[in-house]
Formats: sequence, structure tokens, C-alpha cells
Amino acid sequence: MNLLLYGAPGSGKGTQANMLRTHFGIPHIATGDMLRAEIQAGTALGRQAQPILAAGQYVSDEIMIGIVRHRLGKADCGPGFIMDGFPRTVPQAEALDDLMHELGKRFDRVIYLKVPVEELLHRLSGRLVCPTCQRTYPPQTTACAADGSALVQREDDKPEAVRPRIEIYLDKTVPVLDHYRHERLVSEIDGRGTIDEISSQVLAAVNGKHSSPLMGKSPAAGRAQGALPEKPGDGAKTKTA
Ligand code: AP5
Ligand code: MG
Repeated sequence: MNLLLYGAPGSGKGTQANMLRTHFGIPHIATGDMLRAEIQAGTALGRQAQPILAAGQYVSDEIMIGIVRHRLGKADCGPGFIMDGFPRTVPQAEALDDLMHELGKRFDRVIYLKVPVEELLHRLSGRLVCPTCQRTYPPQTTACAADGSALVQREDDKPEAVRPRIEIYLDKTVPVLDHYRHERLVSEIDGRGTIDEISSQVLAAVNGKHSSPLMGKSPAAGRAQGALPEKPGDGAKTKTA
């Protein structure tokens, strides 16, 4: 089972990936987590990446493609994997196509978690993360449920980095969705509602119970028309896959 989680910063990719990795027993490949681990370890890559992440900008395609190529070559990806945070640009998507082809793999589904900008800003400003295992938690959580570590705020969740992250997502990452829409792989899910409600919809999409355009059975689903604009200036439209 090879899955790709797509969505804006704060849309819930990491949260749903935690559920999926437990459910399917396959690794979660999160490029942001990998970069933060390099920063924490003080490697040359980490030193290079730190100011880029802190400013909410993107690390170069060349570096990111190299990181993912190396990671996907590891044996634990054999039974499948959950990709989160990559590809973020069209050149990354094209490189991933080539890499998947080389490895004889294909994506089973692309899950797009669609969340309005105001909700993204609210979530990111309150988000807490475990510095040990990178799991994310909502505000007021005291310790990591997995390892008991005290939770911290991510450097790029500070107000000055959050807006640039959303802007670069709209500019560089929104076009990536069309890349997968052409392959009819995208299940679009209204990312509002409780985490459990979203998890049910994600699992339904992955298990092929819905091949959907916009899915959403939560009370929030009716508000989907207010979801994140696909492109700057697009207004509050809901597109189908
Ligand atoms: P990355 O770590 O990938 O960050 P991101 O894409 O900005 O996404 P986030 O991790 O912020 O959000 P998420 O969707 O995982 O949401 P979460 O589940 O935590 O990348 C960081 C940086 O690394 C980039 O900015 C870039 O600099 C660099 N980078 C990484 N990959 C790169 C690449 N390919 N190319 C170039 N540069 C790259 O949820 C958010 C919060 O909401 C949490 O508090 C959570 O508890 C809460 N929440 C989740 N679901 C719900 C719900 N349904 N209702 C209410 N709250 C919820
Ligand atoms: Mg994340």
C-alpha cells in the first residue's frame, strides 16, 4: 500500500499519517520530520536547512529528491509507505514519478486534506510537537502519548513563518495536485471535523469505498464551500478530483 498525503501546512497530514502507519504497519516518510531530525543532529544538511525552514521557505528540489530517493530505497518501504510533504513542487513530482517507475511501484491513492486558511492559521499557532518522535498534538496537550516527552512549539509555527508557508504552498505546491488529478488518484476530503471523523474518511478512501471528489460526512462537510482556495485569487471554491 503506497499512499501520498497532500495538503496545506496544518491540514492534518502528520496526524492522519500516524493513524495510517499504525493501521497498515508501514513507514511514514515525512520530509519535514527528516529535515528537523538533521537540524537536531547538527549535520551539514541540518545547518543548511535550518534558516530555510525557520523562514517558511522550501529546501531545494535537488536536495529533497536526493533525500527521498535514499529513503525509498530502504528495505522497510518494501510492503508500502505513507509519503507526507513530498512532492511539493512540479519538478519533485516528476522526479518521484521516475523514481517510482524505477522501483516498480505506484501510488494506490493520493489523499488531499482540504482545510480553509483561517483554520490552518488557528491550528498551526496552537500546535505542539514531540521533539523525540515528531508526533503532533493539539493545544493544551501536556506530554507525548507515545514516549512521554514534554511537547514543544515548532520553530516554523511562529507567526512570522506561518503566512510565508501558506503562500509558498499556494504558489508551488497547489500545481502538484493537478499532476495527480490527471492520474485519477486523488480523494479529496474535507479536513474539518474531529480527527476520528477525518480518519474514518481517510480509511474509506484508501480502502476504495469512495473514489470521491469531495468526501465529508461530518457536520463540517456542509461548510466545504469555504475551503482553501486552490490558487491565489481563486476564491472559496470546491473542486472535484
Ligand atoms: P512539513 O513538516 O512537511 O510541514 P507542512 O507541510 O508545513 O505541514 P505541517 O507538518 O505543518 O502540517 P500537517 O499537515 O502535518 O498537520 P498536522 O497533522 O501537524 O515541512 C516543514 C518544512 O520543511 C517546509 O516548510 C519546508 O521548509 C521543508 N520541506 C519539507 N518537505 C519539503 C520538500 N518536499 N521540498 C522542500 N522543502 C521541504 O496538524 C496540525 C495541527 O492541527 C496539530 O496540532 C493537530 O493536532 C491539529 N489537527 C489535526 N487534525 C485536526 C482536526 N481534524 N481538527 C482539529 N485539529 C486538528
Ligand atoms: Mg506534518
